[in-house]
Amino acid sequence: MRAPILAGNWKMNKTAAEAVELVKAMQPELATITSVEQVVVPPYLAVPDVSRLCSGTPLKVGAQDLFWEPKGAYTGEVAPNMVAEFCSYVVIGHSERREYFGETDESVNRKIKAAFQAGLTPIVCVGERLEQRQAGQTDSWVAGQVRAALQGLSATQVAALVLAYEPIWAIGTGLAATDEEAERVCGAVVRATVAEVYGVQVSEAVRIQYGGSVNAENAYAIMSQPNIDGGLVGGASLKAESFVAIVAATAKAKGLA
Ligand code: PGA
Repeated sequence: MRAPILAGNWKMNKTAAEAVELVKAMQPELATITSVEQVVVPPYLAVPDVSRLCSGTPLKVGAQDLFWEPKGAYTGEVAPNMVAEFCSYVVIGHSERREYFGETDESVNRKIKAAFQAGLTPIVCVGERLEQRQAGQTDSWVAGQVRAALQGLSATQVAALVLAYEPIWAIGTGLAATDEEAERVCGAVVRATVAEVYGVQVSEAVRIQYGGSVNAENAYAIMSQPNIDGGLVGGASLKAESFVAIVAATAKAKGLA
């Protein structure tokens, strides 16, 4: 069975001091839910403090991005080994990076390879825009993003990474995909695409998260779906109470509570 994984992407929220407070508020309850892998993804400047707090606890730390070059004259960027000093996960290809910061399928692919080289586990985001959904292009678009992201990766790498299906129209809007539709895309599109390229064994091993307006109320129904192995949560991960409730709902939904 795939171990469920719930990650909280804090985006550009929380100073280092606020991040420490938030983690301290979450930790006592999170420590009792070890059946779900838990990850917090703070902004870079909060990562070292959060990582020190999480050391030796079940809570893992991720970064929101990285650059693929190992070092050099790249003002403003953060290298894979700098991330790996503090993190075990890194989010790559979030739709906000694709939309506002020029991330492409090609840069996503380079970053995934660089993440693996540094010993990080990538959480790779894919998802369609509203116009694409309305035009009936969801499946072909998402399958294309998955193929492009995974180009040139080994079967072992693909089995080890995490894919996050995040329909862009559901992010930060309060409009989550229905459980059935989230399950359909995660299973019949994302997992099926991995199966086509890497075979069923790899596709059964890879973990697929759903993201987009997951909250304490809808988490149980979404996480109960067989092809959804967890969530990438934005807004609702910024409060200890709701993040803990989502992790607990995931454990329950997977029969692990
Ligand atoms: P949201 O964000 O939970 O606030 O919709 C999800 C994400 O962007 O990962």
